[in-house]
Amino acid sequence: MAEAQATAASAAAAPVKAVAAKPAAAKPAAGHGDAVNIGPSAAELSMVQAPMTRREFLNYAFLGSLGIFLVVFGGAFFVFALPRFGAGEFGGTFDLGLAGDAVPPVEDAPKANTAARSWVSNTDQGVVALYNVCVHLGCLYGWEPITNRFECPCHGSKYEKDGTYIAGPAPRSLDRFVIRFTDANGTVLAETNSQGDPLPVPSPNAVMIVDTGKIIQGKTHG
Ligand code: FES
Repeated sequence: MAEAQATAASAAAAPVKAVAAKPAAAKPAAGHGDAVNIGPSAAELSMVQAPMTRREFLNYAFLGSLGIFLVVFGGAFFVFALPRFGAGEFGGTFDLGLAGDAVPPVEDAPKANTAARSWVSNTDQGVVALYNVCVHLGCLYGWEPITNRFECPCHGSKYEKDGTYIAGPAPRSLDRFVIRFTDANGTVLAETNSQGDPLPVPSPNAVMIVDTGKIIQGKTHG
């Protein structure tokens, strides 16, 4: 027993040896045939995101704004360029057929066209397409064969066969639509001028088109 205690005491008194770290194993020197790894691979580089500079950010912002502007502006221009009214719709054009059928003889009464809201009236100077709304307060006037003139039932305004003001509270002559005569290929043979003067019929075979999108105001009277 005394021997065992002496052994334990001597073991506790023995100095603790420091464990020295093992030196790292030296890598073998690369030979001529070995690849030398000198940096990150291309795949690793591609994953590295360089921070965006202020200049780059402003460039991207400018290009983005420019793209949005062009899309919006282009779309608005496209919509604006589209005809607002189709053919046969008031505000658009009306094909009345051959002039020989559409234009009444000079000595006849004007022809009403309800769809085009107009009166086609022929005179010695040419043909006019009159807007069928009175220029006083917007009533629908009519042709009076007895007096051979247009008369408005609301307040009694009166107009010549070509729409020229005669009497009544209307402030001006009747408004006119632009007329076009074309050949079978659509080539324009004659068109109402900017004054809205009566248009001579170039040929009975010409196609008559009334453009209700182009109104020429009647002349005021004084
Ligand atoms: S609306 Fe035609 S005269 Fe008044």
